[in-house]
Amino acid sequence: MFNLNLSQKDHVYKHELKHRECREVFPYSILAGFYNDVMSHVEYERWAAYTLAVGAEYKCGINKVFDFACGTGNLVFQLELMGCDASGADGIEEMVKIANAEKVNWHSKASFYTCDFLNLPPVSNQDMVLCLYDSSNYILEVDQQELFFDQVKQLLSPDGIFLFDCSTRLNSIRHFNGYKFREVLNDTTILRYAYYTKKDNIQHNEFFILPEGEDYYWHEHHRQRIWSLRDFEKSLKKTGYKLLNKYDGFSFASGSEKSERVHFVAKPA
Ligand SMILES: C[S@@+](CC[C@H](N)C(=O)[O-])C[C@H]1O[C@@H](n2cnc3c(N)ncnc32)[C@H](O)[C@@H]1O
Repeated sequence: MFNLNLSQKDHVYKHELKHRECREVFPYSILAGFYNDVMSHVEYERWAAYTLAVGAEYKCGINKVFDFACGTGNLVFQLELMGCDASGADGIEEMVKIANAEKVNWHSKASFYTCDFLNLPPVSNQDMVLCLYDSSNYILEVDQQELFFDQVKQLLSPDGIFLFDCSTRLNSIRHFNGYKFREVLNDTTILRYAYYTKKDNIQHNEFFILPEGEDYYWHEHHRQRIWSLRDFEKSLKKTGYKLLNKYDGFSFASGSEKSERVHFVAKPA
C-alpha cells in the first residue's frame, strides 16, 4: 500500500489519491511547468498598464522596472512591450528557467535572476520595484518582511517607488477557505485545495499533481501569511519608507481590510 502523506486527516481528495504514492516537493517546483496554463485567466497586460499608471502618478518617467517574485516573467514581458527596460527575479529556479525559455517568444531582452526575498539581485537604480500577485504573502515572518523591504530600497533609484500587493483576510475567508479546483493540463490532473487557518493567519494552497499513467502524485503545500494592512504599514515605516498610498486592487480607490487585494505604493523616506 502506498504511503498517504495528507496534511488534513479527512482530505477532500483522499479517494483519488489513495492508490498513488505521495512525492512531497517544494512549492512551484513542479507547478512551474503548468504555471502559465494555470494562470491563463490573468490579464497581465492590464496589470502592466496599471503598474505604469501608478508609476506615472508618483514619478515622472518610468523606464527601469524590476519585478520581484516575477514567476515565469509574464508581467516583465508585458512591461517590455510597453517600452520599459524590465527585468525580474524569483526564488524558485524552475520558475526562472521558464521565464528564460519564454524570452524568445517575446523577443525579450530581460534578465531573470534566481534570487529569494532575502537576497539582493545584481540590479540598481530602478524607477520601480514590483512584487505582485500575493507574492509578498509568501514571506512568513516579520523580520524577513522587514529585511525584504530594506533590501528593495537598495534596488531603487533615489526617487524610485515600490509597488507591492497583498491578499487580505477577507479574500481568504470569502474565496479560499474550503475551495476546491480541478483541471487537466497536458494529461496531468491538477487538484487544488485551499483553506485558511485563523489561529496563525495562514492561507494554505495544496496542489496534488497527478501525471497520467503513473503510480504517484506530487504534493506542493503553499503557505502564505495573511498580514494585516497595519503589519505592512509598520514594516514600511520601520524600514524607512514613506507610504504614498494604499489602493483597492487594480484601482485608485482607497484600499482597506474590506478589499480583497490591496496595492501599497511607497518610496524611501
Ligand atoms: C502567485 S506567484 C506570482 C508570480 C508572479 N508575480 C505573477 O504575477 O505571475 C508567487 C511567486 O512568488 C515566488 N516565491 C515564493 N517564495 C519566494 C521566495 N522566498 N523568494 C522569492 N520568490 C518567492 C514563487 O516562486 C512565485 O513565482
